[in-house]
Amino acid sequence: MTSTPLPPVVFENVAADDISEAMLVEAANLFSNSYGVWGPNAEKNIGPFAKQGRRVRMSPARLRQQSLPANANNFHTRATCGGELAGYVFATRWNYAGREICWITQLCIDPKYRRHRLATGLLLKLREGKDDGGFGILSSHPAAVLAALRAFGRGIEEVDLKMAREHARAIMDCSPVGYVKEAVLRGSLFKTHGEDNVVCCAYTNFWVDHTEPLEVLQAVKARGIDWPFGDLPDGCEFLVMVKGGQVNQEGERIRKQLLSSESESRHQNVAVLSKVEGDPNDDFKG
Ligand SMILES: CC(C)(COP(=O)(O)OP(=O)(O)OC[C@H]1O[C@@H](n2cnc3c(N)ncnc32)[C@H](O)[C@@H]1OP(=O)(O)O)[C@@H](O)C(=O)NCCC(=O)NCCS
Repeated sequence: MTSTPLPPVVFENVAADDISEAMLVEAANLFSNSYGVWGPNAEKNIGPFAKQGRRVRMSPARLRQQSLPANANNFHTRATCGGELAGYVFATRWNYAGREICWITQLCIDPKYRRHRLATGLLLKLREGKDDGGFGILSSHPAAVLAALRAFGRGIEEVDLKMAREHARAIMDCSPVGYVKEAVLRGSLFKTHGEDNVVCCAYTNFWVDHTEPLEVLQAVKARGIDWPFGDLPDGCEFLVMVKGGQVNQEGERIRKQLLSSESESRHQNVAVLSKVEGDPNDDFKG
């Protein structure tokens, strides 16, 4: 374990009514400066603005439209470090068959704070005090998948794809989040044909460059992890769907480290984080 502690990180849940325009601007800026770049097929699929290698940008208005849909139960969790926004998550909850589904619509960490378990901590903070029956996220990034599985379930070590196979379409069909509702399931789990080795993902028409996420996937596989979601076609994102329940021992250990120490209030926690074990040079730069 390399020990590169950050200054204390504050994790904070923000009620929907308290999400200010300034918070949206900060989040949109972080996204635009660090989320990723357009891939080789973006321009021809979605237009000249999406030139290969150009940053994927997000305006506060678009962020509001995408992640704060009207008449929906929306949530925002932030991590700040020395007053600076280090990362954030937006989520929306809705009811499916009598159960609350919590869906991550956006998760982004500033590159200089990556690999300190901020994403995992944000997701653990998001679920605090809630009794969610299930969780979902669409993401091309394996680290987002790992963070979600750790915070919501039993980690990548014990993935159960049954909920996705049996309920993904119905859960997504009743989502108030446009891109989730419109996503097209792909992979052998859903018996779609014609693509070898694609298991559990969805076409979302999001043509972000996959170079860095696929490098991270190689690093994850090199840890001996048997990646259950299969390959990722362009324009698609991995689909993670997890049944609500307890996190496992490792998730609980991270939760205690990040969220229990020096707790200031029900809404805010302060934690001192160290770099996650691994090669300090393999952070991708966003
Ligand atoms: C994906 C992202 C949110 C991860 O944030 P993060 O704070 O670095 O993630 P964490 O430190 O909580 O790490 C989560 C897991 O991924 C692993 N991981 C993170 N980055 C990694 C890397 N570069 N290589 C290998 N593994 C990595 C961690 O080891 C951890 O796994 P573990 O709990 O089994 O040890 C961040 O990289 C990001 O903002 N990327 C760009 C935006 C994006 O793709 N967002 C997701 C779409 S919704």
